[in-house]
Amino acid sequence: MTDHYAVIGNPIEQSKSPLIHTAYAQATGQDIGYTKLLAPLGGFAAAVGAFRAAGGRGMNVTAPFKLDAFAYATDLAPSAQMAGAVNAMKFEGDKVHAENFDGVGLVRDVVHNLGCPLQGRRVLILGAGGATRGALLPILAQRPAELWIVNRTVAKAQELAQLAGQHQTGSVPVRGGGYADLGTVAFDAVFNATSASLTAELPPLPASAFAPGCLAYELAYGKGLTPFLRLAQQAGVTQLADGVGMLAEQAAEAFEWWRGVRPDTADVIQQLTVPLV
Ligand code: ATR
Repeated sequence: MTDHYAVIGNPIEQSKSPLIHTAYAQATGQDIGYTKLLAPLGGFAAAVGAFRAAGGRGMNVTAPFKLDAFAYATDLAPSAQMAGAVNAMKFEGDKVHAENFDGVGLVRDVVHNLGCPLQGRRVLILGAGGATRGALLPILAQRPAELWIVNRTVAKAQELAQLAGQHQTGSVPVRGGGYADLGTVAFDAVFNATSASLTAELPPLPASAFAPGCLAYELAYGKGLTPFLRLAQQAGVTQLADGVGMLAEQAAEAFEWWRGVRPDTADVIQQLTVPLV
């Protein structure tokens, strides 16, 4: 019997999740159906309720419903609690299990696919919104030498640094501040988790932040060479990446959580890659 899954959002036409999960199902021999579900604003709970009533087994959640899903869940995983947002749900009877796989997907892409260990490295993350919240604990679990969070609104970065410091299991120094606080400090991996790239803007990052051999990673996907990646390239960074691998890896995490089998992501990443030009 076919098990049904969906991605819910508004808009939803742009979502790559059906393509990704259908590819994973084919590659692993899983009998699933996966559709796009457009819900009206304010209509999240009703749409999910109808999907569950029809036997739906799980869902991915995209904008603008990640907070609605957080409120709707009965069982929030620590990843979702720290992120303050949910991107995957699993339905079991009355229970709604909820996860956020974005951060773990990001780290898997960096360490496993790009071959760039974070352990012992100096890591900088730009932005203090939902994307950063999701990435913090998975990055800290890699035991970097230190982690800096910088944000346009400085207080948000300071709050997040404090929160991450409290929740991490290790003792990685975590520092939060503004772009001006960076001075000439250089990092081995710089992640752009701001939404600046969506409007082709550039966070006020000094080029000196990129250490020789650094990785510059844009969490947004499919935007080509964003202003952030261009800055990195002009600073001499040769390892540039966007969020295509993160997208494929967070989907693989959800797929494994639902189906108990881990798909290989290489083909999907290749298929969805947009050249960084
Ligand atoms: P997301 O869920 O994608 O992280 P968000 O929670 O709205 O989205 O957060 C967006 C982040 O991008 C914020 O950290 C925001 O900075 P502020 O907190 O100061 O608003 C950051 N951001 C957006 N546009 C930016 C820009 N042009 N330059 C620098 N930071 C920017």
